[in-house]
Amino acid sequence: MKLGFIGLGKMGQALALRAVQSGYVVYGFNRTKSKVEHLRDRIDLMSSISDVVEKSDVILVSVTDDEADEDVILGNHGISDYIKPNKLIIDFSTISPIMSRYINEKLKRKNAYRLEVPLIGGPDKAIRGDLIALIGGDRTKYEEYSDLIKTFAHRTIYAGDIGDALSLKLAFNLLVAGYAELIAEGLTLVQKMKVDPRLFIYLINASGYKTEFSEVKGQKMLVSNYEPTFYLKHMKKDLGLVAKVADKYNIHMPVHAALWSTYTAAAESDLAEEDYSAILEYLLKINKLKE
Ligand SMILES: NC(=O)c1ccc[n+]([C@@H]2O[C@H](COP(=O)([O-])OP(=O)(O)OC[C@H]3O[C@@H](n4cnc5c(N)ncnc54)[C@H](OP(=O)(O)O)[C@@H]3O)[C@@H](O)[C@H]2O)c1
Repeated sequence: MKLGFIGLGKMGQALALRAVQSGYVVYGFNRTKSKVEHLRDRIDLMSSISDVVEKSDVILVSVTDDEADEDVILGNHGISDYIKPNKLIIDFSTISPIMSRYINEKLKRKNAYRLEVPLIGGPDKAIRGDLIALIGGDRTKYEEYSDLIKTFAHRTIYAGDIGDALSLKLAFNLLVAGYAELIAEGLTLVQKMKVDPRLFIYLINASGYKTEFSEVKGQKMLVSNYEPTFYLKHMKKDLGLVAKVADKYNIHMPVHAALWSTYTAAAESDLAEEDYSAILEYLLKINKLKE
C-alpha cells in the first residue's frame, strides 16, 4: 500500500517515519520545504499535494488546526481537487468536530472517504507505534483500514460518527491542559513558600495522582527543560477549539475559561514555541519568581 503524508511537522514526520519502518512506500508533502530537507533520504518528498494524491492509495493528513485542514483538503489545489472516488483520507489533525463534519459534507460530492483519527501521545510514541488512535467516521472503512491505523497505535477506540472522536480528543486535551496547569500552580505555590519544589513532584509521584506527565515532564519542569514535543501554542489552539464547541453548544465550563486565558497569555509572551509544560515558566514570571 502506498501512503501519502501531507503535513510533516513534529507528528506528521514521526508518523511517516513509522510507516517507512513498517515497510510502506511513503510519499510526503510539507508546505515549507526547507523544514523537511533532512527527511529526503528516508521519505520520497513531493513538491505538491497533487503529486502525493496521485501516487498514493491512502492520504494521511497531519496539520495544525481548522484553517490548515480546510486549506489542505478543500482549498485551491487541495486534496479534494485530485482525489479519486472511493479513496480514503485518514486525518490525524486535531481540529474541531464542527470543521470535521463540514469537511466530510463537502467531500461527499467527490465520493471520497475521510476518517478523523485524532491521536493521544506525542512524536516519541508515534515513532514506536505506541499511540492511542480515536476513530470517527464510516465504521466499514475503519475496519478495512484498521491494520494500517494499528501501525501507529497500540490501542484504537472507535468513537462513532464524524465529530465524535474529535469531541473525545478535545475533552482529553482539556484534562491534559488542566493537569499541567495545576502542577505548575502547585510548583509556583511551594516555591513562593520557600519549600523545595522537588518535594512536590516527589509527592505526586508517590501518590495515586502519578502520571507519565508528572514523572517525565515533572522532572524536566524542575530544571526548566521545555524542549517541545507538543507546542504550548498548540495547547492554546486546542483550548480554542474547546471554546468553539462550548460556544456553539452552550456548554458551561468555568475551569476551561481560566485555562484558555492563561495559555493564551503564555503563548502571547515568548513561550509559544516551547513545550506546553512551559506554562510553569509563565506562572513563575507573573509571580516574580523568575525574570
Ligand atoms: N505534537 C504532539 O504531541 C501531538 C499529539 C497529538 C496530536 N497532535 C496534533 O497533530 C497536528 C500536528 O501537530 P504537530 O505537533 O506536528 O505541529 P507542527 O510541528 O507545528 O506541524 C504542523 C504542520 O501543519 C502544517 N500546516 C500548518 N498550516 C498549514 C497550511 N495552511 N497549509 C499546509 N500545511 C499547514 C505545517 O506546515 P509548515 O511546516 O509549512 O508550517 C506542519 O507540517 C496538530 O493538530 C496537533 O494538535 C500533536
